[in-house]
Amino acid sequence: MELIDGKAISQQIKQEIAEEVAEIVANGGKRPHLAAILVGHDGGSETYVANKVKACEVCGFKSTLIRYEDDVTEEELLSKVQQLNEDPDIDGFIVQLPLPKHISEQKIIETIDYKKDVDGFHPINVGRMAIGLPCYISATPNGILELLKRYHIETQGKKCVILGRSNIVGKPMAMLMMQKACPGDATVTVCHSRSKNLVKECQEADIIIAAMGQPNFVKADMVKDGAVIIDVGTTRVPDASKKSGFKLTGDVKFDEVAPKCSYITPVPGGVGPMTIVSLMKNTLLAGKKAIYR
Ligand code: GUN
Repeated sequence: MELIDGKAISQQIKQEIAEEVAEIVANGGKRPHLAAILVGHDGGSETYVANKVKACEVCGFKSTLIRYEDDVTEEELLSKVQQLNEDPDIDGFIVQLPLPKHISEQKIIETIDYKKDVDGFHPINVGRMAIGLPCYISATPNGILELLKRYHIETQGKKCVILGRSNIVGKPMAMLMMQKACPGDATVTVCHSRSKNLVKECQEADIIIAAMGQPNFVKADMVKDGAVIIDVGTTRVPDASKKSGFKLTGDVKFDEVAPKCSYITPVPGGVGPMTIVSLMKNTLLAGKKAIYR
């Protein structure tokens, strides 16, 4: 069993980005600038956004954090999105999800200029990804592809089971794993809360990508010997022994599943750091106007 070290790979990639940014700036180019909108004080979102801002520093990007309280109106938020769309200094920006219930996430996402949509959530980017055109690919699926690539994990012709069908992870992951590419070329099955044969599907899978947000859902008896396990889960489970009061817990029962695998990602330190690094890669592409002019 080999542990997939997302933390180490992410640090390496941030270093690569920082070197490229230093060269761009030395040649008189523009330092990439990422803005993030954070609404409210959800603990998870606070941490993610703080980590994104920190990663910007490491990469040599400029970053701007824009905060609103939970009671911000949809109108206010839409007008800020418009303002960022029009600001020539901002190369890309994100609106951290989830948003309070009185705000339509879809409306916000569709208002973001797709050319600055470094989260890859806008329907134009999702659609372009689906048909294999250059676009911003959403961060978590792209981070997983990068891990598969850097560990030379074969995906062609493999049976890949994806657990979860979210717009952010499950659906894009399915499209990317089936695309004619490397990584890709897999036979993909998506299982979700209404699937009848989920356990059997998992037992037959060469690669399982668990992204349903149910701590310790994937057990040893669901995994075949030599499988590759990618754990996207990051549920905060109460743990009095931790200073924070919680333990970040994956969708895979790591201790019993790991001995059966050829490769497995830990939680934390697997997919999580790669998600942030994918956003950094998209921001660099945005700064270079590499995908859209
Ligand atoms: N919430 C959970 N993951 C993400 C992400 O990748 N981007 C944004 N904007 N919000 C999220």
